[in-house]
Amino acid sequence: MALLTWNESLSVNVRDIDEQHQKLVGMLNLLHEAMGKGQGKDVLKTLLGDLARYTVTHFANEEAYMKRFDYAELAAHKAEHEALKSKVVELKARFEGGQTMLTVETMNFLKNWLTDHIQGSDKKYTPCFIAHGLK
Ligand code: FEO
Repeated sequence: MALLTWNESLSVNVRDIDEQHQKLVGMLNLLHEAMGKGQGKDVLKTLLGDLARYTVTHFANEEAYMKRFDYAELAAHKAEHEALKSKVVELKARFEGGQTMLTVETMNFLKNWLTDHIQGSDKKYTPCFIAHGLK
């Protein structure tokens, strides 16, 4: 069973950002599934690396829009992104350093962070992005 299922409550009503969020949800589910199946360290390491890289790409895309549209909450939003990036870097480092258990708590943390961030912070930029022509 998927860790997180995409649904309309996660939509920010901007197509390309929704697609990026759906991809993140999919990657999180792949990692969760691999963990549940007891996949080897190499598989988990690859999936964790993919998730970390795509998270950075997605955050950079959002921040580029915010900058271009002079979004008032860019600094606060970016700080949230930075906090998660640090957490994922730490997680990756621990994993690569031999602490190869990805725990249920870790997966729930990532799931809750993504859900709370999309619903709490990402949705706030929707009026700004739409006013600047995104759809
Ligand atoms: Fe979709 Fe602010 O991350």
